[in-house]
Amino acid sequence: MNSFPRLHTYDDDSLCTYKNIFMIIVEGKAVDIAKLDRTGFLDVEVDPQLDLFAEIARLKREKNAVILAHYYQEADIQDIADYIGDSLGLAQQAEKTQADIIVFAGVHFMAETAKILNPGKKVVMPDAKAGCSLADSCPPVLFKKFIEAHPGHTVISYINCTAEIKALSDIICTSSNAVKIVESLPADQPIIFAPDKNLGRYIEKKTGRKMVLWDGSCMVHEIFSLERITKLKHQHPDAKIIAHPECEEPVLAIADFIGSTTGLLKYATNDSAQAFIVVTETGIIHQMQKSAPHKTFIPAPPDNMCACNDCPHMKRNTLEKIYLNLRYELPEINIPEPTISKARQSIQRMLEISAKAGL
Ligand code: 13P
Ligand code: SF4
Repeated sequence: MNSFPRLHTYDDDSLCTYKNIFMIIVEGKAVDIAKLDRTGFLDVEVDPQLDLFAEIARLKREKNAVILAHYYQEADIQDIADYIGDSLGLAQQAEKTQADIIVFAGVHFMAETAKILNPGKKVVMPDAKAGCSLADSCPPVLFKKFIEAHPGHTVISYINCTAEIKALSDIICTSSNAVKIVESLPADQPIIFAPDKNLGRYIEKKTGRKMVLWDGSCMVHEIFSLERITKLKHQHPDAKIIAHPECEEPVLAIADFIGSTTGLLKYATNDSAQAFIVVTETGIIHQMQKSAPHKTFIPAPPDNMCACNDCPHMKRNTLEKIYLNLRYELPEINIPEPTISKARQSIQRMLEISAKAGL
């Protein structure tokens, strides 16, 4: 069944159906909305004369919508967002928002989390193809078998996973609360940790607990070059190395500070150092520069000459797509029952433990 709205009138535009093919008239052109499954967004040209900043602000006001954006979004998107944050902050905001529509400028698992936590709201995202290599590395069918092979284990899953994986898990965590979540369980409780093996190893080291790790990783954080970061450090001996725990162990071993995106931002703002080598996706540097304009932030290089320290999924979102997303409310996130209820239990457990820990 098609989950898109069947009839809706947009100012001057209209929506019609023809032999079960759903057509939408967008910017004067007919668009087959079934195409959204393939493209991930409404693939139509936006008038280049349009003041996108003003239009987005107007639509937000008129529709009582809120834009939640992750730190890895491009600078313009961060600047129009109502809230910018890490995965935990974004989930907390999504749960409590009073807006009618949540426009999620991030990746698919983040928008899904917003819908799971606040199912009564309409959750839309600028490009539904904005996925995550880490989430993709953990297919539900295989994960179910993995859990069955380890009876008696509590399943902790990193929030970077699909709604189906969340529904199979006991507790969710993010990089900012993972240590607290693991420590909240009795010391002798066996744990499965998925899908990020790098974050898993980092938590094992921090807590001294052995866990059964799923073999997943992030394509962006795995590509940083230890050799090139070390060279950079020689060129900038006073710069501190700050890294996200999704990085591989040898990179984390030379870091002065390890933390979630919010953790890295706070550290870079408050620490006395004047320069930082930032070992995570480059989007975060926009907020670092805003909160400490006098400091220097050097993006850590990947192991080749590509721009692989930009997440290709996060960077699928653009201002144009946000405008179209707000205007036509497509694509929309919908999650079936019982997945949504089961996944909510594991996320809510995380939020409760986080609240107790003051996070
Ligand atoms: P944070 O929760 O630290 O923002 O991390 C999200 C993410 O996708 C990192 O790759
Ligand atoms: Fe996923 Fe890595 Fe992109 Fe984060 S940076 S969204 S973990 S692919």
